[in-house]
Amino acid sequence: MSKLWGGRFTKKTDQLVEEYTASITFDKELAEEDIQGSLAHVTMLGKQGIIPLDDVDTIKEGLHRVMQKIKRGEIEFAVADEDIHMNIEKTLIDDIGAVGGKLHTGRSRNDQVATDMHLYLRKRVVEFVDLLHKLQAALLEQAKANLDTIVPGYTHLQRAQPILFAHHLMAYVAMFGRDAERLQDSYKRINTLPLGAGALAGTTFPIDRHFVASQLGFDRIYENSLDAVSDRDFILEFLSHASIIMMHLSRLSEELILWSSSEFRFVELDDAFCTGSSIMPQKKNPDVPELVRGKTGRVYGNLMGLLTVLKSLPLAYNKDMQEDKEGMFDTVKTMQGALQLFAPMIATMKVNKSRMREAVNMDFSNATDIADFLVGKGLPFRQAHEVIGKTVLYCIEQNKFLLDLTLEEFKQFSKLFDERIYDVLQPENVVNARNVYGGTATAQVSEAITRAEMGLEQTAAWVAEYAERSK
Ligand code: ARG
Repeated sequence: MSKLWGGRFTKKTDQLVEEYTASITFDKELAEEDIQGSLAHVTMLGKQGIIPLDDVDTIKEGLHRVMQKIKRGEIEFAVADEDIHMNIEKTLIDDIGAVGGKLHTGRSRNDQVATDMHLYLRKRVVEFVDLLHKLQAALLEQAKANLDTIVPGYTHLQRAQPILFAHHLMAYVAMFGRDAERLQDSYKRINTLPLGAGALAGTTFPIDRHFVASQLGFDRIYENSLDAVSDRDFILEFLSHASIIMMHLSRLSEELILWSSSEFRFVELDDAFCTGSSIMPQKKNPDVPELVRGKTGRVYGNLMGLLTVLKSLPLAYNKDMQEDKEGMFDTVKTMQGALQLFAPMIATMKVNKSRMREAVNMDFSNATDIADFLVGKGLPFRQAHEVIGKTVLYCIEQNKFLLDLTLEEFKQFSKLFDERIYDVLQPENVVNARNVYGGTATAQVSEAITRAEMGLEQTAAWVAEYAERSK
């Protein structure tokens, strides 16, 4: 058979044009969704009396056979048949004969491809919420194991105030929690059915869009047929959320790389997640976080790419929109790889508690606390800040830390100091003094862990429910 749209043409398509315009090399990824959508569509055509029920049965059996053949790798997709939609339709017609040509009644590839993308992405969104959940669980376990580990907290990458390492990890649990929430929220927009919009204006056949929606588990249908076939916001939204997820992973990657360096030695990544150097025998390189940091760039690029494709496109479908796929598939693959590796890498990471403690003991990150101590004695904060600044300067000149100073030395800077400051300056006390909701005190971090565990249970329940709904 010649091209499915060949009737109007008198010449063969130029070979290069055929190759240039085809999308089958990448949209074959949508085979399962395409058949899923077709099965619902043809069932509806039968129910509405648009095509005979016998034909519906023949087409459905044929579609199931085509799916099996694709799964077994028995079908050679042809560039001449342009895309997955026409490759499947052609295979179907080859299999069941001319009756297969009734499948496309009341439908266009424009609403068909949009439907495929919605079906594809809703599955991926559920999988990503699950992957984020697993990473959060791994971070949470490390947090529980490090509820007594004190580490310098940084601003400007300068030691600022000591914090629990658990508190630091819980910040990432919160970040990935927001990421999961964003994806969950986007589900309702992804789960909207475009099919029935036809090429752009609807169709002359008495179709039942609501029936198709319920067959495919869509919660809503597009209100406007032009919007239905032109909308790629749901993909943009996914790419935006993916960009934020990768940005979070990249920040964590950067910290893991720093912490693994000889300068920090705060953590050691498991051998299974590192690689060596071909020349320097001593090297153990944190390649995984480095690559995740690097691959963040392509995910941002995919977002910018699609935004740029869609910018200025007139309604409704334009062939430009075929460019929505590769970036989306690439983003899915890139993020799957990163998230799949991150959870076990975090779970197996060794935390060097003594090295962290050493770092805390050798810094001035307790300086705020003696300023607060002077405030407690009635000194205005600004003056206390000045006094401690001078004290720290003195320490630096003397090559000492605050806890090394005698009370006499402290008193040179303010008469208000007394021996209680030695208690105040202990890292444990510095940490536990920050006993506000969301602060780093052990009691607060324990509660944060409990709250996060409850949140994770809810996410797991959502994943179970929506994985079922998105099949
Ligand atoms: N392969 C096309 C795409 O991905 C399918 C839609 C084609 N529609 C059309 N009117 N040519 O965008």
